[in-house]
Amino acid sequence: MSLRIFVPRDAGAIAVGADEIAHALEQAAAGRGLGIDLVRTGSRGLYWLEPMVEVATPAGRVAFGPMAPADAASVLEAMLADGNHPLRLGLADDIPWLKRQTRLTFARCGVIDPRSLDDYRAHGGYQGLERALTLGRAATLAEVTASGLRGRGGAGFPTGIKWKTVADTAADRKYIVCNADEGDSGTFADRMIMEGDPFVLIEGMTIAALTVGASKGYIYTRSEYPHAVAAMNAAIAAARRGGYLGTRIGGSSHAFDIEVRVGAGAYVCGEETSLLESLEGRRGIVRAKPPLPAHKGLFGKPTVINNVLSFAAAPFILANGGKAYADFGMGRSRGTMPIQLAGNIRYGGLFETAFGITLGELVDDVGGGTFTGRPVRAVQVGGPLGAYFPRALFDTPFDYEAFAARDGLIGHGGIVVFDDSVDMAKQARFAFAFCAIESCGKCTPCRIGSTRGAESIDKILRGGRVPDQVALVEDLCNTMKLGSLCALGGFTPYPVMSALKHFPEDFRPQQLQAAE
Ligand SMILES: Cc1cc2nc3c(=O)[nH]c(=O)nc-3n(C[C@H](O)[C@H](O)[C@H](O)COP(=O)(O)O)c2cc1C
Ligand code: SF4
Repeated sequence: MSLRIFVPRDAGAIAVGADEIAHALEQAAAGRGLGIDLVRTGSRGLYWLEPMVEVATPAGRVAFGPMAPADAASVLEAMLADGNHPLRLGLADDIPWLKRQTRLTFARCGVIDPRSLDDYRAHGGYQGLERALTLGRAATLAEVTASGLRGRGGAGFPTGIKWKTVADTAADRKYIVCNADEGDSGTFADRMIMEGDPFVLIEGMTIAALTVGASKGYIYTRSEYPHAVAAMNAAIAAARRGGYLGTRIGGSSHAFDIEVRVGAGAYVCGEETSLLESLEGRRGIVRAKPPLPAHKGLFGKPTVINNVLSFAAAPFILANGGKAYADFGMGRSRGTMPIQLAGNIRYGGLFETAFGITLGELVDDVGGGTFTGRPVRAVQVGGPLGAYFPRALFDTPFDYEAFAARDGLIGHGGIVVFDDSVDMAKQARFAFAFCAIESCGKCTPCRIGSTRGAESIDKILRGGRVPDQVALVEDLCNTMKLGSLCALGGFTPYPVMSALKHFPEDFRPQQLQAAE
């Protein structure tokens, strides 16, 4: 009897011992003279259960976790016997946290072998591309537009309009660039896709290339993502061997190929024009717009630049139709959002669900409150430029417009939770300090304003002329919001102003002096 065992190779799982567990399982099996088929998958995204190991059974895959190497022998015994073990979690698909999700983009993540093109195809992979090849450019674009998909990198710009702009721009060469820089705090969805289902990204980029007439694609990611780089390169090589990248995509007359590029690491290199500068071999400094990258992007050519999750949604949309995707969600936020629960949270991980779920449901119900067990005081949504939400705003539905109406943003879907020990004045200072460190330096409100802002908060912390300093901070935020060239300087006021608005008590000198 040979067991088929699944152990994640996701960076998050490796960080808590997945490689050691894979090794221990192999040793335990060898000790018993048992042959096992060990498949290294991505993660299902239930990070508090990692390393989570699964075994194939006639009833489905049974999960065990969180495992330690010392558990390998006894878990293997359980897998061979009736499955009973204290770490047994039951059928993986029946774990409630997973079951209540709507996994359209992440359907295969943690399930398939990310290096196997056959496994990808066996789980519905490349059906979207095949349909796109049958439909042709105009009808493919119509499906993406009908899906209502909006960019998942932060700005929420309609993907169909972006692709149409590039499709309509005449040029001898066009590019597809995938923004996999993923610099936002508390986010890891791009990394999970690249490590757990890289073919879905390749397929999505290929669909975009066919739609707009591009022949070359780049995936720009960060040096902190070595596992993702390895997984992407292995999948790109497999896609080339399988005829899904190269001169005749899927047997068609279209040519398209992809290269992975690794940045040196700067938050601002996630901003699309700065990313293009870096990709061209220069320092990551923001370009003024216009021209839009869709008109003059990489090497001056029309370029589609999208986030990993935007591209990764395209295969589902093409395979199932734009309407099937648009049927999920609320208002102008259509489809699903892979939400990342992080920070001080009990059940942290990747939760893909239709837009419309409230912030409170996500934090209290799905996330189970704080890891420390103390009350939740604030959550920052949308990365370091996102607003802090107090409990009073937990009824806000996850929806681009609903968040904007409350001076917040969804961004890349990261939620970072803080308990009641957080000092919100210090968080406001951190927002300015982060901006000062990461500023590309091109414009004054951001380059100078961020440093002056941090100094003003320091004065508040020391207790000097607090109302004057608060007024100064407000004025500075207004200048940065209106006068910055890009959203790094332009959105830093969101965390600062939300901290001031919702947690004014933290900006009182006496309390801050006591806290210092
Ligand atoms: C400072 C800054 C950092 C950004 N970082 C990222 C990032 O890491 N990943 C990303 O996809 N978009 C990032 N963006 C947004 C991009 O500029 C751009 O809007 C996005 O790549 C477009 O793709 P989408 O339409 O699929 O969202 C950032 C923007 C700014 C201003
Ligand atoms: S806002 Fe900041 S990061 Fe953006 S262009 Fe200006 S200086 Fe550069």
